[in-house]
Amino acid sequence: MAGVSDASDPGATIQWPLAQPWPSAHPPLRLAVLASGEGSNFEALVNACHHGPLNGEVVLLVVNKEQCGARQRAERLDVPCCWIDHRAYGSREALDAALIERFQAAAVDLVVMAGWMRIVTPVLIEAYPDRLLNIHPSLLPSFRGADGVGQALAAGVRLSGCTAHLVRPEVDSGPILVQAAVPVLQTDDAASLAARIHRQEHRILPLAVALAAERLVRDKTAAAVAPSPPPARPAD
Ligand code: GRF
Repeated sequence: MAGVSDASDPGATIQWPLAQPWPSAHPPLRLAVLASGEGSNFEALVNACHHGPLNGEVVLLVVNKEQCGARQRAERLDVPCCWIDHRAYGSREALDAALIERFQAAAVDLVVMAGWMRIVTPVLIEAYPDRLLNIHPSLLPSFRGADGVGQALAAGVRLSGCTAHLVRPEVDSGPILVQAAVPVLQTDDAASLAARIHRQEHRILPLAVALAAERLVRDKTAAAVAPSPPPARPAD
């Protein structure tokens, strides 16, 4: 797990490269992003591909809110966007199956949930094993679920942050790829803390994508060089 500690909060501008070595030993990635809201993390990923060190391209944005900010950003950034109305599907599994169709049509390698306000099912998780990421505004495993920022404030913690992780069936769970710590100030309200956490999300999410991609390459290489099992012993 990588960590980005940033008590000084350098502001909205991301300085590339980040302090830690950037994983680049992976083929160019075709990324899809799922978003329901403003889409600032989506934009951070697009920028990390265009102007930063992320070896890949965001080839598809899928939104479930027709008028969301993410969709407008996609238009401005010239990224193909598809609106899927989740209300048209009878179950979470049916929605996930529709998503998979879109991703397969776009030959997507890796999918990032960046403010996707739907619970995903094993249908999607198993279609993209270790290739489905999520970003959450707390230091997981603390404050899972809705309103991670509000939960942290209500608990009175002095340190919060954000987590990028691989997705498993339980909400906001799965192997952690990167976390960034953000101090909670005495003067913070939900908006000010959320804004500082957001800035760190924009730093760690592209790094998490690169780490996930590198991990896939490593696993594949390990499988290729694994010794073959010993021949079966003849029956006595
Ligand atoms: C982020 O805070 C993310 O952690 C949470 O939803 C928010 C999305 O923000 N899952 P944006 O739409 O990327 O601006």
